[in-house]
Amino acid sequence: MELKNLRVDGKRLRRSLEEMARIGATPGGGVQRLTLSGEDKRARDLFVKWLKELKLELTIDEMGNIFGRRAGKDNSLAPVMTGSHIDSQPKGGRFDGILGVMGALEVFRTLQENKVVSERPLVIVDWTNEEGSRFAPAMCASGVWAGCLERDWVYGRTDINGKKFVDELERIGYRGKAPARKWPVHAYFEYHIEQGPLLERQGKTIGAPKGIVCEHWNDVYLQGEANQVGPTPMEGRHDALCAAAEMILKIGELPERMGGNMVATVGEIQNYPNSRNIIPDRVHFTVDIRSWDDEHALKAWELLKEELKAVAARRGCPIEIKETWRIEHQPFAEPLVQRVLDTAGELGYSALYMVSGAGHDASYMNKIAPTAMIFVPSIGGRSHVEVENTRWEDCEAGANVLLHCLLKTAGEK
Ligand code: GLV
Ligand code: MN
Ligand code: MN
Repeated sequence: MELKNLRVDGKRLRRSLEEMARIGATPGGGVQRLTLSGEDKRARDLFVKWLKELKLELTIDEMGNIFGRRAGKDNSLAPVMTGSHIDSQPKGGRFDGILGVMGALEVFRTLQENKVVSERPLVIVDWTNEEGSRFAPAMCASGVWAGCLERDWVYGRTDINGKKFVDELERIGYRGKAPARKWPVHAYFEYHIEQGPLLERQGKTIGAPKGIVCEHWNDVYLQGEANQVGPTPMEGRHDALCAAAEMILKIGELPERMGGNMVATVGEIQNYPNSRNIIPDRVHFTVDIRSWDDEHALKAWELLKEELKAVAARRGCPIEIKETWRIEHQPFAEPLVQRVLDTAGELGYSALYMVSGAGHDASYMNKIAPTAMIFVPSIGGRSHVEVENTRWEDCEAGANVLLHCLLKTAGEK
């Protein structure tokens, strides 16, 4: 068969996605596969079994990243890499992350059964903890691998129950021996659902993001004074939750006040002691700010910090602000973005040039290798929810675009 007529097996891709979706399946039709949980381990085990069936050269590194290398004609050349993540949000969807891993696997299976050997080697990857929901920050294992985050800092991160990243990695048996250190990569492609409404609204099948917005993750800790809610008068209270409420509304209004393109979200909050008849004396909440414009996001955060401090002072609730993590916006390699658009066109799929508002391991990969992404539509623009969905035909279309982008790029000298 002529290489240009090669196509993935959409039904097999669907079966792989459905089998993965059973691991950590939630009653609402989604999955919960928090990073380094038992469900993450089971999904990894299945992925590793599938990699072994393809006789790929398997490497698990000290961050738990899983790589499968497929030899090329010239193995002295740097490989082309592709993949995404297996972990999910709490009550997350069946496509976020796993589509890029199963899509890449389907491409490798297609190459195998058609006995196609690319010029350069190909590498499939599952990055540990893309979501950052259980252990902040997000994309921390690709961040370590790319040399942008410290391994030991990530090892020491704790979840809400005080469990350490490194202990959980060890517990599930995925603390590998290989150093989490970058090697030369010719190019990186990540296939993913869009997670927003644009492709569906515009009736397009393939999205080619020009890059990914910046992300700023901050943590706010407030100290109040606990007391009996009945006898304690309203005046003179130091209610940490009321202080947080005032702050959270300011954060929600921040993008409109700042103008320009940005979003700001408080997604997580802990209130202590969390009893209906005790005035809260301790609150923690997270702040996520994103924009294509790094300076704009920074300016917004600086302004916000002063406002939060003023609220804390007025309410007599001492505040501690931790700037947990930041990654600048990442413009992808233009020739590869163009390749995604061109390949979609050649295969007869409509395509849209866009921006990714969601974070991806592609952000860190973009710092060390030419990078691009391939998006397919999210039904109703819903993601990070159990009803997250993508049409099977679109899953297949994206995998075909990935197949041909990989073949073209792995054919480069
Ligand atoms: C990753 O899922 C993110 O965009 O937060
Ligand atoms: Mn994802
Ligand atoms: Mn996600």
